[in-house]
Amino acid sequence: MKLISENELSEAAECLRNGGLVAFPTETVYGLGANALNPLAVAGIFSAKKRPNFDPLIVHISDLRQIEQLFELPINAAVYKLAEQFWPGPLTIVHRKSAIVPSIVTSDLDAVAVRMPSHPIAQKLIHEAGVPVAAPSANRFGQLSPTSYKHVAKQNMEIDYIVMGDDVTKAVGIESTVVAIENGICTVLRPGIITAEEIQKCLLDFEVLTPEKNTKLVSPGLLQSHYSPLKPLYYLDDETVLTENTGVILHKKEDGVRYSDKTIFTSETGNLLEVAANLFSSLHRMEEDAEVNEIYIARTTEDGIGKAIMDRLNKATFQYRS
Ligand code: TXA
Ligand code: MG
Repeated sequence: MKLISENELSEAAECLRNGGLVAFPTETVYGLGANALNPLAVAGIFSAKKRPNFDPLIVHISDLRQIEQLFELPINAAVYKLAEQFWPGPLTIVHRKSAIVPSIVTSDLDAVAVRMPSHPIAQKLIHEAGVPVAAPSANRFGQLSPTSYKHVAKQNMEIDYIVMGDDVTKAVGIESTVVAIENGICTVLRPGIITAEEIQKCLLDFEVLTPEKNTKLVSPGLLQSHYSPLKPLYYLDDETVLTENTGVILHKKEDGVRYSDKTIFTSETGNLLEVAANLFSSLHRMEEDAEVNEIYIARTTEDGIGKAIMDRLNKATFQYRS
């Protein structure tokens, strides 16, 4: 595994073309990329992450015309509307796939997930590679998503390159919103900072549903337990007993509240964009702090972007709740 800077991207691009594995920054989280049209290369992602093969991958593009290669024609008009408003950016669109997309990418589903990231390094890498790039988050299966190249490096996965970018903090910080387009219905499979309300405003003549309301839709990979640090993680509540080894993550500073010595704020003001941007990095810091034995984290609202944040927290705390 070799760490490289953004000035050495052509080396990484060539590696992707030749079937290798490259971790790179995006505006959401770091991705672990392989040539999406090369099934053997894609198989490498699953083995490096120890990811079960029922969990399909997102294909990253740098040019809108690439959807004509990846999606079955005719492409639903809703795709173009969403792309115009939200790409490049943290939105993934699932649509029926063309024959060119290997089934290992989609876990045998007949639809493929595609996203055009806005991060300049991601764009340049995909453009130079000249192929669409399948990339899940660059962490071992089930663990915390990486928002810094250091988070990727500490996972010790068998990969060829890690492209060092700035820490993603200050960008989005949580994974893209995933929507599926089918039969006049748009289903929000994974909440993100682009909310269902914004999608509905963009697609006025479409019904926008959450997965609970569209039971016909298969959405693999949406597991109950996910994004977990390697230490117990619980929700903070009034009964929580703080010791010197209790890490606490809060999203707002409040007068008169007692904090543990090991307290991290994702935001001082409760700004949800800031909370999302700092969420995974705060959990990584607690994971890395040898004096922290267990972590307590505050809930946020479930409204707007809070829905995406609570989605991640509910999964991260799942195994520690009764
Ligand atoms: O922001 C992101 O989306 C990041 C960066 C690297 O782009 N990627 C990411 O990938 O979060 P990953 O593998 O951690 O999550 C992809 C999820 C799958 O678990 C699944 O829920 C959904 O996207 N997905 C992918 N392909 C799908 C398909 N064909 N049908 C339905 N859902 C799909
Ligand atoms: Mg992931």
